[in-house]
Amino acid sequence: MSAFAPRVFSGVQPTGNLHLGNYLGAIRKFVALQESQDCIYCVVDLHAITAQLVHEDLKSQIRSITAAFLAAGIDPKRHIVFNQSRVSGHAELAWIFNCVARIGWMNRMTQFKEKAGKDRENASLGLLAYPSLMAADILLYRATHVPVGDDQKQHLELTRDIAIKFNNDFSERIAAAGVGTPVQMGEETVNGYFPITEPLIEGPATRVMSLKDGAKKMSKSDPSDLSRINLTDDADQIARKIKKAKTDPDALPSEPAGLAGRAEADNLVGIFAALSERSKADVLSEFGGRNFSEFKPALAELAVTSLGPVTGEMRRLLAEPAHIDAVLKDGGDRANEIAEQTMRDVKEIVGFLQ
Ligand code: TRP
Repeated sequence: MSAFAPRVFSGVQPTGNLHLGNYLGAIRKFVALQESQDCIYCVVDLHAITAQLVHEDLKSQIRSITAAFLAAGIDPKRHIVFNQSRVSGHAELAWIFNCVARIGWMNRMTQFKEKAGKDRENASLGLLAYPSLMAADILLYRATHVPVGDDQKQHLELTRDIAIKFNNDFSERIAAAGVGTPVQMGEETVNGYFPITEPLIEGPATRVMSLKDGAKKMSKSDPSDLSRINLTDDADQIARKIKKAKTDPDALPSEPAGLAGRAEADNLVGIFAALSERSKADVLSEFGGRNFSEFKPALAELAVTSLGPVTGEMRRLLAEPAHIDAVLKDGGDRANEIAEQTMRDVKEIVGFLQ
């Protein structure tokens, strides 16, 4: 056990509109964690410029993620909600981590390889250093737990590698500065400054697929709006999209094993299970043997009652940008207080004059 106070940190990029997949996969989990943990939820706008420098309307994208956090029920008074670029410590600590991490670590990242594509030489340096900034986001607050999707697991491992190397390379300085904390690193307990953060990985159960193709993830970039439920859709749109979702002609099986090879059926049952917080097996014990003509209206009704209030609140908040801006400013001020203390310690550890 580490001696760090438990703290949750997570980030969402302000790119594209939010949909049911983001809600069930990430945001709803953030909401659940706030009951038992101190949480910091960040709109990572500095990350948004790594893949594409110029954005149509970054400000409204930042407000939209913030609105989704609030509409889903995150309490910005008990916890912290802010946008990353407001707190200069993120970029500052990322620079130091750029000097801790090795180029080889970054080159191995799957997400970098995918996003950079064939022309790696032409990717931004920021895209290569992306995981270093992500490590800075987390460690600036010495966060102990990070809820993220499966695809971010490798970045979390890299965050741990950076914390381990920093703790090891500076162990004497950390002790001399009197800012160390016992950190469990493998078998050993060492005097470290950064915790070895634990990922809280969501299972594949919450992966929401396209309503038009069960083999593809629900995505904001799919040209068909019918493929996803947006967090701004009203009750009629939600119901209509579920009714138009792709299915197969067979009745539902009575056990999850029967969903094998039926990607669309599996997805709709998965959405039903996630929205009602039941297992797929439980849902199928109720709907097994029934046709989609019965299941879809039940799913539409469930989606409208459970999501309708969230999407309604989202639209209401978006109409009130001044309120959102005030939440971000207040959150930024409180985040900055924590960040400044960390940066003072880190500068002392590294040996800068201050
Ligand atoms: N890389 C994450 C994603 O694309 C976003 C992110 C940035 C993040 N910084 C973070 C997530 C810190 C968790 C913690 O999903």
